[in-house]
Amino acid sequence: MRHLLAIAAAVLLPALALAGDLVGPETCRACHPAAYASWREGPHGRALDGLPPTRRADRRCLGCHSPDAEAGQAGVGCEACHGPGRLYAASYVMRDRELARALGLVVPGEKGCLACHGESTPSLQKFDYARKVKLIRHGEPGAAAGASAGPAAR
Ligand code: HEC
Ligand code: HEC
Ligand code: HEC
Ligand code: HEC
Repeated sequence: MRHLLAIAAAVLLPALALAGDLVGPETCRACHPAAYASWREGPHGRALDGLPPTRRADRRCLGCHSPDAEAGQAGVGCEACHGPGRLYAASYVMRDRELARALGLVVPGEKGCLACHGESTPSLQKFDYARKVKLIRHGEPGAAAGASAGPAAR
């Protein structure tokens, strides 16, 4: 049953995963406190603060520094990389890797980074994925706080 659900979801997903499906980093924090903490202190959690005050509403900058600003999210939020969470952030979905992916969870690779760290990026060096991903590593494998507590933990 679960897998039928997963297949149905994979087919429907492109139509479902809209910007309105963002739940926000605070929702992820409930079960991923360590990931949240390192994100918040890292370059993506602070990507809006890095802009000069006069640029904080400039769409040309927000596209990379705060892509979900219109949804009220500051910085490069969890869901800018992991996909809108409305459907996958439920505890029973998150515990099932396959179902979570079918419902929109993305664990990005190099391509996901290049959307912002590409040719047009104001960087002195070419983006080196293997090196850069280590600098933003967050979370503890198998240690999500919601693993046994379930939705009540929220
Ligand atoms: C109700 C608790 C809960 C919430 C809320 C939640 N997660 Fe999870 N998440 C889990 C559990 C449980 C796992 C399973 C793996 C583990 O134990 O760490 C998991 C796994 C993951 C993984 C690893 C998946 C894999 O297969 O490698 C990612 C990435 C992730 N969550 C991102 C998020 C993001 C982003 C949000 C917010 C949009 C979020 N989670 C919200 C409980 C939760
Ligand atoms: C294509 C994506 C993209 C756009 C558009 C963009 N930036 Fe950035 N910006 C980045 C990335 C990626 C970095 C980090 C580069 C690095 O350190 O290698 C960065 C770094 C910066 C930094 C340095 C921050 C720090 O803490 O050192 C400033 C300041 C900055 N950008 C301002 C701007 C302004 C102002 C605009 C709009 C005029 C803008 N950016 C548009 C992607 C972008
Ligand atoms: C800039 C993109 C980006 C952002 C922003 C981001 N992540 Fe991730 N996340 C990744 C990548 C890439 C990985 C896989 C890292 C690896 O290969 O070691 C990952 C892995 C994870 C994992 C699995 C960790 C593990 O080792 O199993 C969890 C859980 C997670 N992220 C949660 C979050 C949460 C919660 C947030 C926001 C508070 C967040 N992420 C923000 C890119 C991102
Ligand atoms: C939505 C746009 C966006 C995406 C996607 C994104 N980043 Fe970033 N990243 C930024 C911005 C903007 C900054 C600069 C933040 C600042 O300092 O103001 C940055 C900064 C960084 C930095 C610190 C500066 C540097 O280059 O050393 C690292 C490391 C980094 N990103 C790694 C990654 C990795 C790895 C991925 C893919 C898994 C990724 N980013 C995906 C927008 C993005």
